[in-house]
Amino acid sequence: MLTIALPKGRIAEETLAIFEKTFNTKFDFEDRKLILEKDGFRFLLVRNQDVPTYVLNQAADLGVVGLDVLTEKEMDLVKLLDLGIGKCRVCIGMKNEDELDYSKPEITVATKMVNITRNYFSSKAVAVKVIKLYGSIELAPIVGLSDAIVDIVETGTTMKQNGLKVVEDIMESSAHLIANTNSYITHKEEILTLYKKISDNIK
Ligand code: PRP
Repeated sequence: MLTIALPKGRIAEETLAIFEKTFNTKFDFEDRKLILEKDGFRFLLVRNQDVPTYVLNQAADLGVVGLDVLTEKEMDLVKLLDLGIGKCRVCIGMKNEDELDYSKPEITVATKMVNITRNYFSSKAVAVKVIKLYGSIELAPIVGLSDAIVDIVETGTTMKQNGLKVVEDIMESSAHLIANTNSYITHKEEILTLYKKISDNIK
């Protein structure tokens, strides 16, 4: 039995659709249930940001999580396969009338993704003050909380509707299948068989 942590919402639905297609069977969570056991799999529904934690602590052998979250968490996990779903970009956004001024002594950036932000600006040798937020990041520059934001852009609608623009791309992201390092050894055959079946199916 393999336990797989899925991020609640669209990515979980799209991942289950991949499993349904691959194994030719229905994988449906009942109403508010957070566990689904069927055909040798145990799926868990968890918060997006919590997927790496479940996998790191081996509460799940495998997980599905965005490369953005994986990069931000900097945890020792096995990155198995790009599922090609949940595509988005991590970008620097600013008010339409503003430009990124690297000559400023310090740039203030509001974000959920503190590590990605620090690493990006330090690679450019720019001093940054990072303000950690948990959502509605797009508000920060508008009300003067920060000069810029680092956030996920999918369609670009949220930035646009709030008078912001993308000034720089930091990375591209999509949902990846990840594994716990121990599970990857102890369940190697099972995991590699699954890997092969899924990768053949999403080609
Ligand atoms: C993300 C991100 C933006 C929005 C971008 O939030 O923080 O607000 O999506 O999407 P768009 O470019 O298509 O407008 P999400 O909906 O994932 O919510 P959360 O990160 O606050 O959970």
